[in-house]
Amino acid sequence: MSSTNSNGINSIQDGPHRHLRRLLERHLAQPFQRPVAHFNRNAFERAAQEVKQIGGGIILDAGCGNGASTALLASRFPDRAVVGVDKSAARLGGRRWHPANCVLVRADLVDFWRLAAAAGWRLERHFLLCPNPWPKSRHIGRRWHGHAVWPDILALGGRIEVRTNWEIYAREFVLALEVSGVANVELDMRPRAPLSPFERKYRARGQLIYRVTGN
Ligand SMILES: C[S@@+](CC[C@H](N)C(=O)[O-])C[C@H]1O[C@@H](n2cnc3c(N)ncnc32)[C@H](O)[C@@H]1O
Repeated sequence: MSSTNSNGINSIQDGPHRHLRRLLERHLAQPFQRPVAHFNRNAFERAAQEVKQIGGGIILDAGCGNGASTALLASRFPDRAVVGVDKSAARLGGRRWHPANCVLVRADLVDFWRLAAAAGWRLERHFLLCPNPWPKSRHIGRRWHGHAVWPDILALGGRIEVRTNWEIYAREFVLALEVSGVANVELDMRPRAPLSPFERKYRARGQLIYRVTGN
């Protein structure tokens, strides 16, 4: 029977998904074959041009929503190209100002990640801030660590950081990083300044935010 936790997340799971390890082994062994959409290829090529013009290392804010976190990171890392990707035009369209080293892209991450990995991008930092949790057990394959695109996420390298208000997502992410051979994997819940609107909202409600890092 499913239950709702103190952060309002309703799931039948009371720990990491029992098939996650098997799913990871399958995804790590087989390349993801789905063709890339033209729209995403064009979006990636435009972003790659901008990144080249900015120069310096690349920081990716994957699923950046309205880009507020991308703008914040861009001001924190002024000599890096900070790329925010989201598939939602409505969310991206709401943002008016961003620093010159901030590149906002409307694209599906599943294609964007694969194109970036194929183009040889190597990230300095990779943020996944409050990704959709997909809490239904049968949706494990939609969580980024259970998705077939996982090997491309890893291929981009750099210091990866996920923040979530769902403990099970964080614990699964730790497991996925460890199974995939990523070093220095850490999970903590220390209070810290929020990076994104969703994180701000959850913290304002008194919820714990789980942060997973590795590199
Ligand atoms: C829960 S919101 C978090 C937004 C923001 N990171 C924050 O913390 O405020 C998840 C975001 O991921 C985006 N997203 C989900 N799946 C995506 C995909 N396949 N490609 C691009 N963006 C995606 C959604 O559009 C949404 O803006």
